[in-house]
Amino acid sequence: MVLGHESSGVVVEVGEGVTHLKPGDRVALEPGVPCRMCQHCKTGHYNLCPEMEFAATPPYHGTLTEYYTHPADFCFKLPDNVSYAEGALMEPFSVAIHACRRAGVTLGSSVLICGSGPIGLVNVLAAKAAGATFICVYDINGGRLEVAKELGAHHTVIIDPKKSPEETAQDICNQSGFPLGFDISIECSGAESSMRTGIFATKPGGKMTMVGLGHPDVSLPVVDGSIVREVELRGSFRYCNTYPTAIQLASSGLVNLKPLLTHHFKFEDSIKAFELVHSNAPGVIKVQIWNGDENTRL
Ligand SMILES: *[C@@H]1O[C@H](CO)[C@@H](O)[C@H](O)[C@H]1NC(C)=O
Ligand SMILES: *[C@@H]1O[C@H](CO)[C@@H](O)[C@H](O)[C@H]1NC(C)=O
Repeated sequence: MVLGHESSGVVVEVGEGVTHLKPGDRVALEPGVPCRMCQHCKTGHYNLCPEMEFAATPPYHGTLTEYYTHPADFCFKLPDNVSYAEGALMEPFSVAIHACRRAGVTLGSSVLICGSGPIGLVNVLAAKAAGATFICVYDINGGRLEVAKELGAHHTVIIDPKKSPEETAQDICNQSGFPLGFDISIECSGAESSMRTGIFATKPGGKMTMVGLGHPDVSLPVVDGSIVREVELRGSFRYCNTYPTAIQLASSGLVNLKPLLTHHFKFEDSIKAFELVHSNAPGVIKVQIWNGDENTRL
C-alpha cells in the first residue's frame, strides 16, 4: 500500500462547487476524513468518528504519490510565509495542539513531556505557545534532548531505565524545582515504564495526557498513582479542529517548526528516506520526501 500522511502540495484542479481553493494554491492536507454524520462528527470530536478514512491506514492508501485527490474541506491554504516543508509538519504539530488542549495547558502551567521523539518535540512547541512557563522533557536517550532545549524546554533529563518509576519521577520533579510534581504530564513515548513515571511525576490533582502508542495492554499504577492522588488520566488521539490554529501559529512566528526539518530526499530516492529513519542516526528528526523544484520547498 502507499504510505504517507504528513503532506502538503499545490492544488492542480478543484471539483465543482469548491470556492475557497483554486489551482495554484498551496495547501496542507489534513489526512483523516470523517463521515461528517455521526454523533462524534456532529459534536466536533470528529477524530473519534468510527468511519474515519485516514491516509495510509489500511485499507486507505497514503499521500506519498505525485497526485492525490482529497476533499476540499480537509485542504488548508498555506499563507505565503509558511513553506511546503512546514505545511507537512501541520500534521504532527496538530497531534501536539490536540494533546495540549486535552491536557489543559494554559498560562503558567508546569509541563512534563515524556519522550523526545518528534511528537515529544512538537509538544514542547505547543505547550510553550499555550503559555506553559516551565517545560521539562525526559528520555532514555539524550540525542534529541538538545533539540528540546533549542525549541524551548527549560530542563531535560536522561532517565536511567534501571531505576523505579517512582524514584525516577521524584528525581525529575526535584531537579526541576517542582518537588510535588508537575501540573501536567504529556506522555509521548508509549512505553509502559514512561507512562508509570509520568503518573508519579504529576502533582496530586494534576493531569496526565497519554498520546504515545506502544503495546495495546499496559499495566499502570492506577491506585497509588491516580485514584488516591486524583491524577486525571486522559487519552489523546490524533486531533480535530487543529489545522487553522497550527497554520496561524506557524505563520505568526509564534512557533518555529523549522528546527525539526533535518533531512529531505527527492521522490525517486524515497527508499533512502525510509532507510535513514530506520538507521536511527543521530541528528535525524523529520525526514521529508519532496517531489518538486528544490527552490520552492522552503
Ligand atoms: C527529593 O527531595 C526530597 C526533599 O526535598 C528528598 O527527601 C528526596 O530524597 C528527593 N528524592 C530524590 C529521588 O531526589
Ligand atoms: C507572515 O505573514 C503574516 C501575514 O502577512 C504576518 O502577519 C506575519 O508576521 C508573517 N510572519 C513572519 C514570521 O514574518
